[in-house]
Amino acid sequence: MKVPYLDLKSAVRTDPREIADAIQQVLDRTAFAGGPFVAQFEKDFATFCGTRFSAGVGSGTDALWMALLGLGIGPGDEVITVPDTFIATAEAISWCGARPVFVDVDPVTYNMDPSKIEAAITPKTRAIIPVHLFGQTADMDPILEIARKRKLFVVEDASQAHGAEYKGKKAGSIGDAGCFSFYPGKNSARTASGWSGHRQRGTRQEDPDAARPWTGEEILPFPDRVERPDGRYPRERY
Ligand SMILES: Cc1ncc(COP(=O)(O)O)c(C=O)c1O
Repeated sequence: MKVPYLDLKSAVRTDPREIADAIQQVLDRTAFAGGPFVAQFEKDFATFCGTRFSAGVGSGTDALWMALLGLGIGPGDEVITVPDTFIATAEAISWCGARPVFVDVDPVTYNMDPSKIEAAITPKTRAIIPVHLFGQTADMDPILEIARKRKLFVVEDASQAHGAEYKGKKAGSIGDAGCFSFYPGKNSARTASGWSGHRQRGTRQEDPDAARPWTGEEILPFPDRVERPDGRYPRERY
């Protein structure tokens, strides 16, 4: 039996009328970049994830990259992640000028093995990116515990875990930022939408010991086709 690598036709066939209507509405409003549908989705997705907000960006890769940039990660820094993921996770770290440092995965869940993290931490380590694969999350409690102790940020790569839960919390709502991909082959994607979100959590701002505070201004400090709350595109700042 031939199993196609990606079968989008079967997904589209489930609800072709609903999908066509939604696309027509976008065309009617010429809402091609940002606009009311993106704003509504950002609200709905934040509610779905149980976060204060979400922001649409170009892709899951962009979401990871922007989350790291927003946290001030750059050249000379190290970010711990797993090798068993899509290349975008490590790529986003490299795009910031930082160095990906890999720890192995748990042989049962294939997600980050928290017992391997401590040995990978150096004075340059700034963040940990657990990747939630196969619709399940990494074991977040020990990861958060290490991060708190060592003052590291936790950015969740939830690109393949929309709606997955860890102890009652949705994937992407547990760390300092959660990043999703809406590439059409992903868990949640039935339409051709190709953008992703990340969010800000208040705890870093409120924590006096935080390595670096996060402010709303920092969430999109780089060029991308996403509107800022003041209605301007980020690239207007440059
Ligand atoms: C685990 C993981 N991280 C990041 C990405 C990147 O997402 P995108 O393709 O939307 O850039 C993907 C997509 O394949 C992924 O599976």
